[in-house]
Amino acid sequence: EEAIRVSDMAKQMGLKAQEIIKILFSMGMMTTINQSIDQDTATLVATEFGYEVEQVGFLEEGFTQTLEEDKLEDLAPRPPVVTIMGHVDHGKTSLLDAIRETNVTKGEAGGITQHIGAYHVETSRGIITFLDTPGHEAFTAMRARGAQVTDLVILVVAADDGVMEQTKEAVNHAKAANVPIVVAVNKIDKEDANPDRVIRELSEMGLLAEAWGGDTIFANVSAKQRIGLDELLEMVLLQAEVLDLKANPGKRARGHIVEARLDKGRGPVATVLIQEGSLHEGDVFVCGLYQGKVRAMLDDKGQKIKEAGPSYPVEVQGFDGLAESGDEFVVVADEKIARRIASARQTKEREKTLAKASKVTLDSFLASK
Ligand code: GTP
Ligand code: MG
Repeated sequence: EEAIRVSDMAKQMGLKAQEIIKILFSMGMMTTINQSIDQDTATLVATEFGYEVEQVGFLEEGFTQTLEEDKLEDLAPRPPVVTIMGHVDHGKTSLLDAIRETNVTKGEAGGITQHIGAYHVETSRGIITFLDTPGHEAFTAMRARGAQVTDLVILVVAADDGVMEQTKEAVNHAKAANVPIVVAVNKIDKEDANPDRVIRELSEMGLLAEAWGGDTIFANVSAKQRIGLDELLEMVLLQAEVLDLKANPGKRARGHIVEARLDKGRGPVATVLIQEGSLHEGDVFVCGLYQGKVRAMLDDKGQKIKEAGPSYPVEVQGFDGLAESGDEFVVVADEKIARRIASARQTKEREKTLAKASKVTLDSFLASK
């Protein structure tokens, strides 16, 4: 069990050591500045301080990391997580489809992606985890969160349509998240395809093609006719290699919710992208306002699995509420801590809602005058 010195914890939390000692005393523990407390106690103390509560998941990891940075020998290469972004109908799903050699587009209502799907694809050149994000403006917020868990963005631009509103948004999201972009110029099979125009338009956004002396990789593809897909994957994996992506699979899992939904038979379930550590059946976790215990895990092909490591998307069953995409998912030591953190977060959320509601009432009262 890891431990942290009271003085270090105070520093991390921006508090006086005395404040922490007082809380510990109220919990029946006599400590001094130089004494150490275990991680579970530290988490409990953190929940006692209102605004820190939100970061407990992070703090929990923070403690582990301060005390026990991942040792070099514990780090293992992990697959890149690639998000496919681009304007509506430019062919994101079709492209992913062609790569997966399945047919997701046909199964979707109206052919529009309604959620973020996550897929773990074994290409002939290596493993890649793909996130397919919706193209509709209404899902911009979700997509923005999608960029936070991603190592690389494939920007899909239809060669017959060129750079559009959501192409620009995607570029901005990727830039803000500091994520490298590989451009897939799609639909080159079309008669009015104009890939040069795409290169020109993107150069205006600072994405300079190699041919223009820049370092942005462009690949001409046709999702429909399966042209250029191998080259695209090769470039993605080359870019990923440069990033030297590694994670420690040997510790408690941490990740983010890609998608959550209420399943008729199984209750609230969510697709979790594991980013660090490994998730096991039976693990206890905190996620957003909720907590739970991993009752079952399915991979992206619907197969039951017992363990999932870094960069793997898994559907988790066992939440006590419906999480939201973008929520952080953190495995904690035991159910007592999980419940404590979740209920503290819920209390805080209720207070926020109440504050908002009373403001609305006041505003509408003033407006009616
Ligand atoms: P949203 O999820 O709604 O944002 O769309 P999307 O970007 O996922 O596009 P989708 O894959 O659904 O494709 C939109 C349309 O373009 C469909 O009718 C596809 O058949 C067509 N399409 C996709 N790729 C190609 C291509 O390479 N060539 C041609 N000719 N048509 C394509
Ligand atoms: Mg789609």
